[in-house]
Amino acid sequence: MGSDKTMFGSHAATEGERLVASTWWQRAVVYQVYPRSFADGNGDGVGDLLGLIERLDHLAWLGVDAVWISPVFRSPMADFGYDVADYCDIDPLFGDLATIDRLIADAHARDIKVLLDWVPNHTSDQHPWFLESRRDRTNPKADWYVWRDRTANNWLTAFNSGQPAWTYDEQRGQYYLHCFLAQQPDLNWDHPQVQDAMLDTLRFWLDRGVDGFRMDVIHLIAKHLDEDDPADFASKKYSHVPANDVPEVHPRLRRIRSVLDSYPGDRVSVGEVYLLDEERMAAYYGSGDELHLSFNFPFVWSQFRADDLRHRISRTLDILRPRGAWPTWVLSNHDVPRHRTRYGGDEALARIAAAMLLTLPGTPFLYQGEELGLHEAEIPHDRIVDPGLRDGCRAPLPWAIGRHHGWPSDPWLPFPPDADAHSVEAQHLDEDSMLHWYRHLMQVRRRTPQLHTLDLEWVDLGADVLAYRRGGVLVVLNMSSVTVDLPGIVVPLASSIRGLEGLHITSVAPLAAVVAVPA
Ligand code: NOJ
Repeated sequence: MGSDKTMFGSHAATEGERLVASTWWQRAVVYQVYPRSFADGNGDGVGDLLGLIERLDHLAWLGVDAVWISPVFRSPMADFGYDVADYCDIDPLFGDLATIDRLIADAHARDIKVLLDWVPNHTSDQHPWFLESRRDRTNPKADWYVWRDRTANNWLTAFNSGQPAWTYDEQRGQYYLHCFLAQQPDLNWDHPQVQDAMLDTLRFWLDRGVDGFRMDVIHLIAKHLDEDDPADFASKKYSHVPANDVPEVHPRLRRIRSVLDSYPGDRVSVGEVYLLDEERMAAYYGSGDELHLSFNFPFVWSQFRADDLRHRISRTLDILRPRGAWPTWVLSNHDVPRHRTRYGGDEALARIAAAMLLTLPGTPFLYQGEELGLHEAEIPHDRIVDPGLRDGCRAPLPWAIGRHHGWPSDPWLPFPPDADAHSVEAQHLDEDSMLHWYRHLMQVRRRTPQLHTLDLEWVDLGADVLAYRRGGVLVVLNMSSVTVDLPGIVVPLASSIRGLEGLHITSVAPLAAVVAVPA
């Protein structure tokens, strides 16, 4: 096996023509923790770091290799932590620095890596930097944010509020830019001191032993303010941030990368590059000297139909593989309705989706609760708290059967539907549950080296069947209503219909998933 250090950094090793995982994050399954809703250690109704520490054994049992924790830094919580008032401290709601040190140590003791959520585009309006910056036009931080005498473009804030992304500040007598809420002023990344200060926040956490970062809307750290958004932009279905994608972002990503690479142990960056085109997203990997990984939003928004998925997966692989860039696969996160619900709610389809996510070439990211098959929660009008109306996917995890579902008290949001049946307790006991299905798929993935490469060859088994070979391993996701005959006799390593593992089979039932090797 040769390593492509020169051309691709640590992206992928080659074995002949094949791209093979060479680092932990290429083999890993990453699990996103939305801490407010994961587990509550202090009984105040909001999840916290202690709750997460107490559930690490569960995550180890499930078989995840890394957790990405949505922001736990000091924050007024206007955007539930994505408005950071201190990048180098923990919000008391979640714990303190000693608790996160313990979390990192306890996770590492279980071979689980820890990724934090770095929010570089904007701070909270309560961050001391902004309080200083807004004071007047001459203070030392006067240019750390984006101030103008008049609104410089037609940009609107995210969350479809229709509001301009510029707010007038009386104190300073100027407008400031905020791509998200007015409480989230954008940092001015053109300023070298801003870059330096933000890179220091990475070092702070790298020194404490974190294994990497998910990087919030990272494509926004360079902007052409003189470019208006196209007239139809705001009405585009999934647009949620101005579609900046400008060349100045790349040297900034290289600086970020060199900070991570200056630490031992393969620290990783995964960027939220919210650009709905694979080609544009791919540029953020640079030549192995920018992001290690990037989320793939065209795939998130694909229809759950074999032809659409085939198209998105092919396009991703065709664009990323020649660059030596490692793909990621995500179906749900804290910003989008849960995929189980998006795909119509059917359990069989959710099982197929899990088999796909965990057998595609690249790094899968699970969102907490998808392993329980959670549906989107219905949030009564008077309990909606998120300005982006994303509460439904942020509902608390049901850990147990019964009142409060294992939470010490009533949590901040209502539980998802059928919380008893979907609880960890109920599913732990039932070997046929969604939870066991995810766990089994992760076990198969871990012990099957063919799944640690970027090889994928399509197998044509009909229009509504997504079928591919990964080395000698055949994956058949039958999304049709008829039984599909296989090209030969195979032995399932995993089958969504129980009892078939280890047997010889020649067909796959409707709405079933099989991961198999030749007999
Ligand atoms: C993307 C995050 O995922 C989302 O939750 C947040 O509201 C925005 N970025 C702003 O930070």
